[in-house]
Amino acid sequence: MGPIDPEKPADAFQELSRWGVPAWATAIRKCIDQSTSDPISRYAQIATVDSLGKPHLRTLVMRGCLGELSKDHTNDHPMDFWMATDHRSSKIQELAFEPQVEIGWYFPGPREQFRLSGTISILTQTQCPIRSKAWQSLSTQAKVGFYWPTPLEIRDPTNEKAFQVHHGVIHALNPPDSFSVLVMRVARVDHLILQGDPQNRYIYDFKPDKGWVETQVNP
Ligand SMILES: Cc1cc2nc3c(=O)[nH]c(=O)nc-3n(C[C@H](O)[C@H](O)[C@H](O)COP(=O)(O)O)c2cc1C
Repeated sequence: MGPIDPEKPADAFQELSRWGVPAWATAIRKCIDQSTSDPISRYAQIATVDSLGKPHLRTLVMRGCLGELSKDHTNDHPMDFWMATDHRSSKIQELAFEPQVEIGWYFPGPREQFRLSGTISILTQTQCPIRSKAWQSLSTQAKVGFYWPTPLEIRDPTNEKAFQVHHGVIHALNPPDSFSVLVMRVARVDHLILQGDPQNRYIYDFKPDKGWVETQVNP
């Protein structure tokens, strides 16, 4: 599930360069465009908390914007980011308890960090068109992991066959129940640009009455 799909174009993030998008979106799009040869730039860290308030952090592939998946459907939030994950993984329970998250996304080339705060919604087993399109956009390598045995269960060395997935199954149009799409609605962005002396840092807050408000702060 981890590796990035090499065939995936940066156009999965096209929505970030449309007219009228906030400056943080343009900045992320610019970083993506400057990092097309660097797969690491599509990995981000997503932090959740569990019901005891304990933090959990892991790496995920930032797969694109929702607008690219829902081109034929009305979508009020085309800039939402989406990620793919296993519905049986621990983060799903954590997100059900607390949907607010922070994502840390660093682009090594341009040396810019984005900390995205917001809320995650989970698209689960229902066969909605967005979830199916997300599934179809994954590489075979990315799809295979969703057919593996349950994450975190003790590995059974006598049953390694369970990891061998029939490719005919993988190419089915409908995703397996284990496939979930995480949709991130961004409410605040903390953008740090390391290049420059002094460095530059901007905070973007979404206010329901004003829209996006940008403030330059000390780094
Ligand atoms: C480079 C890299 C990319 C990864 N991409 C994903 C991903 O796109 N989706 C995912 O669910 N897990 C991905 N993983 C695995 C997660 O980091 C994590 O181990 C897994 O999702 C289980 O997390 P959880 O137990 O907190 O739910 C990736 C790991 C690495 C190292």
